[in-house]
Amino acid sequence: MALGGLEMLQAEIAEVGAVHPVGRVFEVGQGTIEVSGLTARATLGDRAQIHARSGARFDAEVIALRRGAVTLLADGAVEGVAIGDRVEVLGQAGIAPDNSWVGRIVDPFGRPLDGRPLLRGPEDRNVRAAPPAAATRGRLGDRVETGLDVFNTLLPLVRGQRIGLFAGSGVGKSSLLAKFAKGVEADVVVIALIGERGRELREFVEKTMGPEGMARAVIVAATSDQSPLVRRRCGWAAMTVAEHFRDQGKHVLFLADSVTRFAEAHREVALAGGEPASLRGYPPSTAHQIMSLAERSGPGPEGTGDITAVFSVLVAGSDMEEPVADILRGTLDGHVVLDRAIAERGRFPAIDLLRSVSRSLPDAATPPENALIGKARKLLGAYDRAEMMIQAGLYTAGSDPMIDAAIRVWPALDGFIAQDAPDHTSASFARLAKALAPAG
Ligand SMILES: Nc1ncnc2c1ncn2[C@@H]1O[C@H](COP(=O)(O)OP(=O)(O)O)[C@@H](O)[C@H]1O
Ligand SMILES: [Mg+2]
Repeated sequence: MALGGLEMLQAEIAEVGAVHPVGRVFEVGQGTIEVSGLTARATLGDRAQIHARSGARFDAEVIALRRGAVTLLADGAVEGVAIGDRVEVLGQAGIAPDNSWVGRIVDPFGRPLDGRPLLRGPEDRNVRAAPPAAATRGRLGDRVETGLDVFNTLLPLVRGQRIGLFAGSGVGKSSLLAKFAKGVEADVVVIALIGERGRELREFVEKTMGPEGMARAVIVAATSDQSPLVRRRCGWAAMTVAEHFRDQGKHVLFLADSVTRFAEAHREVALAGGEPASLRGYPPSTAHQIMSLAERSGPGPEGTGDITAVFSVLVAGSDMEEPVADILRGTLDGHVVLDRAIAERGRFPAIDLLRSVSRSLPDAATPPENALIGKARKLLGAYDRAEMMIQAGLYTAGSDPMIDAAIRVWPALDGFIAQDAPDHTSASFARLAKALAPAG
């Protein structure tokens, strides 16, 4: 039994007591089911259950409302559903996060995925909550410790900041997110794992995160074999868990891996509901879905905490014009680009610093710190422009003092980007200054 006896009983009593509107199946398509008799009673996003004559029950969700018909998309296969089967509308399904969820893995409906009983929290929350009103929101907060030299200095992260992490597959997104989960200063870490394979989920929890990372984390997961409804809901449910902690005044670190899978799940649902595709295969509502998810993170309303967020985006090659990347970039306060060539030469995290920015600068750093950041960027830029020549042996030492300086500091600067920061931001800046010293 997944829940304690009393809670199970209470849940059953609640079910028995409710009278739900009932309709009838009149058409069964490719995963979608048309139902009559519910148009006046159903709401977009309602959960529903189909009672097949065989006795089997199928969970589904209302994805479109038309004159005379309600369209459902089932969570799984619908073999066995027939014309005339009864359909019960259950209303919106919330999630009731509890403080005891820290250290646990849950599904997008708030059920345990780690085989142990899970407590329901005190309040049923809407998984599709609106972002806080702009006027009630606090400002970006102070710089947080990140556990990594590069994010303590060149790409600082402040409380309530939202950044994107853009990379192709296998370049190190999940590994970097796990480093954040372990190293970034926060009260609670909430991680949405959307559309990974089951094996990847287990590996992420057991190896990449480990007991140390899990100690202050809640993972909300939907694997790739689950329906697009469940995968999309995973992003919402995880954000709802983050809001639960934020509303208690906590500083929450929210990590989503990946927004691309969230957008793909939305695309599947929207296309099944009859929305046309545009925007390189994505339906027009995709932009709104991505932005409203991202907008829920950030500084909380007055009197609450903050949700600092990192959203990973899968980009093919380094195509930053790819629709999901393009939509997200506009709403974020910074982006980190990982580069396959850097990963291939073995430097992790494979951050392409020249293409990465944190919009919390210059405010997040002191004037001397900003001067150091500016110097590092200038030298990295000079090296980058001359790199082909340098590697081809075509650069003659002494012909450009800036490039000479860049060549002198490059190995130390490249190493710096890979370094953990076991201490404090001030120590990270001291190491940066040391790496830059040979430039004079
Ligand atoms: N910090 C690191 N140190 C060493 N190897 C790493 C590091 N980060 C990533 N890798 C290598 O890159 C591979 C892919 O990383 P992963 O985080 O799973 O990428 P993604 O999530 O972008 O697909 C890992 O299996 C590992 O071999
Ligand atoms: Mg990954």
